[in-house]
Amino acid sequence: MKRLFVANWKMNKTREEALEFRQALSVRAGEFRDVELAIAPPFPFLIELADREERWSIAGQNCAAERRGAFTGEVSAAMLASCGCRYVILGHSERRKYFGESEVVLGFKVERLREADLVPIYCVGETLQERREGLTHEVLARHLEALDNDPPELPIVVAYEPVWAIGTGQNATPEQARETIGEIRNMLAGRKRLRVLYGGSVSAVNSASLLRQPGIDGFLVGGASLDPASFCSICQP
Ligand code: PGA
Repeated sequence: MKRLFVANWKMNKTREEALEFRQALSVRAGEFRDVELAIAPPFPFLIELADREERWSIAGQNCAAERRGAFTGEVSAAMLASCGCRYVILGHSERRKYFGESEVVLGFKVERLREADLVPIYCVGETLQERREGLTHEVLARHLEALDNDPPELPIVVAYEPVWAIGTGQNATPEQARETIGEIRNMLAGRKRLRVLYGGSVSAVNSASLLRQPGIDGFLVGGASLDPASFCSICQP
């Protein structure tokens, strides 16, 4: 399986800025044939960010736990699939923290994605306090419960994103990332089509040393994915 690099724009960029990014990426996209790129823009830009030549795919940043109906402001998995998405990020720590998403709700969201043939990029990760208290394993195991009913033969992406590393400039060391991703792989040992990404302050400076670690299949990149040149230097095969 190719390495996967995902740009998580969060709630950033206007439409004009999104189109500028697309233009810059399409000039350089030929450099990335040996890796897989995905862009997760805000919902309004999904269609315009999709690449007709399929040099990169597009991803949602979230989806509804319900199929359809009177849920003002929500976006369903079927809608995302019909816009051309291949992936959807689920369970990002910002969703857990600010929107109260629990494993139960996330389990429903995973089901909705599968009904629409979408692949989850399922995020897990401990806070600094949990790490200090030696609870990392327990927290990851709890987060992964949302995948308990997901058919193990389906492709899945899990992003290990320690909360203390997200947007802080303090990335996990390569050793911490390797060790914790090793634990995640053990917990998901039955899954053959699994890719595990690292996320949390990934930059052009630290990406190479992280990627040298066995078990890291790519990155989920936030802040450093907003600038096309910095995203491209992170994605170098
Ligand atoms: P960051 O965000 O790269 O800005 O730390 C990563 C993420 O939240 O996915």
